[in-house]
Amino acid sequence: MNSPIFDFIKNYSGSKHIRAHMPGHKGMDFLGCEHLDITEISGADSLFDASGIIGESEANASSLFGCPTFYSTEGSSLCIRAMLYLISLHAANTGKRAHILAARNSHKTFVNAAAMLDIEIDWIFPENGENYLSCVISPKRLDALLDGYNVKPCAVYITSPDYIGNICDIAALSEVCKKHGVILAVDNAHGAYLKFKTPSMHPIDLGADICCDSAHKTLPVLTGGAYLHISDSAPDIFAQYAKKALSLFASTSPSYLILASLDIANTYIYKEYNSELSRFTDEVKALRKSLELPFIGDEDIKLTLDAKAIGYTGTELAGLLSENTIEVEFADPDLVVLMLTPQNTREDLVRIKSAFDAIPKKSAISEKPPQFHKPEPVVSPREALLSVSERLPIAECESRILAFANVSCPPAVPIVSCGEKITAEAIRCFEYYGIEYCDVIK
Ligand SMILES: Cc1ncc(COP(=O)(O)O)c(C=O)c1O
Repeated sequence: MNSPIFDFIKNYSGSKHIRAHMPGHKGMDFLGCEHLDITEISGADSLFDASGIIGESEANASSLFGCPTFYSTEGSSLCIRAMLYLISLHAANTGKRAHILAARNSHKTFVNAAAMLDIEIDWIFPENGENYLSCVISPKRLDALLDGYNVKPCAVYITSPDYIGNICDIAALSEVCKKHGVILAVDNAHGAYLKFKTPSMHPIDLGADICCDSAHKTLPVLTGGAYLHISDSAPDIFAQYAKKALSLFASTSPSYLILASLDIANTYIYKEYNSELSRFTDEVKALRKSLELPFIGDEDIKLTLDAKAIGYTGTELAGLLSENTIEVEFADPDLVVLMLTPQNTREDLVRIKSAFDAIPKKSAISEKPPQFHKPEPVVSPREALLSVSERLPIAECESRILAFANVSCPPAVPIVSCGEKITAEAIRCFEYYGIEYCDVIK
């Protein structure tokens, strides 16, 4: 498989052309990578009107993923906005209301995009006792929820894998969606690599109509590189309007460094990724087994540890690992998440093992996250986002309405969503997770 974008940039950077075009660094290496950073010059194609090297590279990605695949240089965040636009377009085109039934653990981009596009959301909340970062919906539950509508929502939106490594039964959920004539859209930001497991566990192969993958999260791609994938089962309008959908929300100056990174990743994936992933998965499985720690979640190569079960908060454990020069992806009072890929070396795994072995195991901490009931929606997310707001210390937010889901990333999953009332119970929850301020409607 070729790498037309990378080859073009390499040739250009080795040529004697005077760069009388953007970017302003003119290929001078301040950071070290500027010589590879170009813009849409002649021959370099155009991301949202791709008929040259970018089109060729996207065709390579499409053949790897087995479905129409479009590049984003602005992460899954851009793809999520595009997915919601396409769902709205489909709704308008079929005379339906833009209305989505969504798992509550959605990334904040989903809520914000739905608000901007005036899409109504019905939330599916996690079952009792489930972490707020998860929402593993059973097919039976989804079927019952969809049965409850006279006029069905136009799409179901789920996040799988979630931040802490749980995976939904997408094959079964897609059957349910098909039965009810509803689109299944999946935030697969954490699961680009799932395509290359044997058999594939990628949402599109399991029946999802549309999904996004952050290539940069699990594949060797620069931060910002992502894919929008569309299934053959999706309405034709999705693939036809995918570029338009992406361009609506994107910068007109896509990063060629990121494009080149997506491009060169195709070659690597084609040549060796399946076997590399399988080798690495076995190594992480062996590590997991040897550690004998209370890991949770379904993903093989993401290690999510129930820190309290060994007597630490997740944040304490992350601190201890950091002292041992291991930087984790995410930690909160309960959990610590290590995201690993085949680009981690064997030596990395050995060091992770020694670091965990050196941490004395203590008796479990019994304190659970505060119980939290469904927040009451007072105004629509759109009305909330378009309201003037003020930032207040969390203790002063009781009975106020959240204007803006200002949760940090990671995990960027709102506890209370915009337009909902902040109760005393919610405040306890915010405090537990270390959230100090909220933007509330003035
Ligand atoms: C579940 C989920 N969806 C979407 C995103 C946004 O992805 P990106 O950072 O590629 O824009 C993230 C980011 O962490 C995420 O965790």
